[in-house]
Amino acid sequence: MFVKINVASFLVALFVVLVEGSNVIESIVEDHEHSIGTQWAMLVAGSSGWYNYRHQANICHAYQLLKKGGLKDEHIIVFMYDDIAYNPENPRPGVIINNPHGHDVYKGVPKDYTGKDCNAQNFYGVILGNKSVLTGGSGKVVNSGPNDYIFIYYSDHGSPAMPVEPPVYATELNEVLKIKHASRTYKKMVFYLEAWESRSMFDGLLDEGLNIYVTTSSKPDEDGWATYCSFSGDKSCYGECPPKEFKDNCLGDLFSVSWLENSDLRDRRVETLKKQYQRIRKRVLNNGTHGSHIMEYGDLHIHNDALSKYMGSNSPKHTSSTNNYPSNSRHVNQRDVQLLYLLSKFHDAPEGSIRKSEAYRKLSEVISEREHVDKSVKHIGQILFGVKNGPEVLNIVRPAGQPLVDDWDCLKSFVKIFEFHCGSLTSYGRKHVRGFANMCNAGIQRDQIDAAAKQTCSS
Ligand SMILES: *[C@@H]1O[C@H](CO)[C@@H](O)[C@H](O)[C@H]1NC(C)=O
Ligand SMILES: *[C@@H]1O[C@H](CO)[C@@H](O)[C@H](O)[C@H]1NC(C)=O
Repeated sequence: MFVKINVASFLVALFVVLVEGSNVIESIVEDHEHSIGTQWAMLVAGSSGWYNYRHQANICHAYQLLKKGGLKDEHIIVFMYDDIAYNPENPRPGVIINNPHGHDVYKGVPKDYTGKDCNAQNFYGVILGNKSVLTGGSGKVVNSGPNDYIFIYYSDHGSPAMPVEPPVYATELNEVLKIKHASRTYKKMVFYLEAWESRSMFDGLLDEGLNIYVTTSSKPDEDGWATYCSFSGDKSCYGECPPKEFKDNCLGDLFSVSWLENSDLRDRRVETLKKQYQRIRKRVLNNGTHGSHIMEYGDLHIHNDALSKYMGSNSPKHTSSTNNYPSNSRHVNQRDVQLLYLLSKFHDAPEGSIRKSEAYRKLSEVISEREHVDKSVKHIGQILFGVKNGPEVLNIVRPAGQPLVDDWDCLKSFVKIFEFHCGSLTSYGRKHVRGFANMCNAGIQRDQIDAAAKQTCSS
C-alpha cells in the first residue's frame, strides 16, 4: 500500500516535470521575485506540561525561522500553552532550545493564544479570519487575501489536540479548510502536521483542488518519534544528547526537527517543498527502525514551489552538505516520553525520600490510568464483537484513501459515551480513537456502546 502511494506521487511529480519542462527552477526563482501577496503563518503546539517540552520548542523554532525569513509578526499567529519557558523544572529559566547545540528560540515569540485560549474554536476562527468566534487571545487572525500564501505547522502527539479540550477532529478541520477555500482568501496553503497517526487527519478527507499541500509525519497506524532526549538510567541518548542539565526530557520531535533544520540549512529560494520532503523522508524513516513514513496529500503540484514562498528566504551558510544524519539512531516513541520522564524522576530521587515516594505514586498512577483505558476499550470491544474478534475489529486499519470513519458524529458521541462511564480518555488514550471509529464503521448503535461501557466501567 505504501509503495503504491509513492509510485502514484512519483508519477504525479514526473507528470509535472514533463509538462513544465526544465523551466521548473527558473519559474520558481521568477515567481519568488514577482511574488505578490502576504505570507501568513499559523504555528500550533497541541500539548502542555513539562514532559511535552518538545512541541512548544518545535513551534518556537519555527517562529524564529519564519521571522528571520522576513515574515512579519502581525502575520505569524502562535498557539502555545506557554508553560515551558518559566516552568519550575526548566534548568534555563526563560529559555527554550530545540537542538542540543541550539540557541534560545523563545525570545520574541508572539503570545497570541496561550493557556485556556489555546483551543480548537480559536484555531478554526483564526484560520477563517473570523474574529466573532474568538474567545480571549490577541485577536490576531489570518486576515488574508486572494494572492496570499498560508503556512500552517502543527506539532502534537496523538491525533491533533489542543492543550484545552475538545480535540481537533479531522472532519472539522477539513470542513474549515473547505470554507477557507470557498472564501477565496488565499492562493496556496501548505500544512505540516506532526502527530502520530497523522495521516488519518487528511487521508480520504482532503479534497483536491483546494490549493492545499499537506505533509504528515506518519502513516495512520504508525507511532511518532521524539528525539534529542536523555533519561536517567539510560546510558546513551536518543538522537543526540541534549545539554547535561536537560536530562529526563526531549528537545524535539523527529519529523519537526528534520524539516526545521533542513529549512535552516538550505537556500529556501532554491529548495522546493518536494526536495525537502525527499530529504526529511529519509531522516524520519531512520532506516525503518525508530522512524515513520512521512506522507503527502492534497494538490501535489504545489510541492514544486520553493520553500521561500511559505517560509521566507534565508542566507544559508552552506548548501552543499549531504544528508549526514546517522540513519540508525535511536529515538523515543512519543507515547513513552511521559513514562520515561516519570521513571527518571523516581530513579533520581534519593532512597527513602518523600520525593521518591511521590515519584513512585505518580508513576503508578499514570501506569494504572493507561491500563484502565486499554482494558476498558478492549473489554467494550469484546462485549460488542466477541472475545476473539473484539481486538481484531478494533485494530482494523482501512486502506489508503478511506477516511478513519464514515460517520464523524458517531465517533465523537462514542468517545463522549466512553468518557461518561469510564473517565477521561487522556492523551495517551487517544490511540484508541481508531477503535471507536471501527465500532462506528461496524454499525454499532449508541445504546449498544452505552450498555457495554456501563457494564465495563460501572463496577
Ligand atoms: C463567523 O462565525 C459566525 C459563527 O459561526 C458566523 O455566523 C459568521 O457568519 C462568520 N462570519 C464570517 C465573516 O464568516
Ligand atoms: C539498515 O537496516 C538494515 C537491516 O534492517 C541493516 O542491514 C543496514 O545495515 C542498515 N543500514 C544502515 C545505513 O544503518
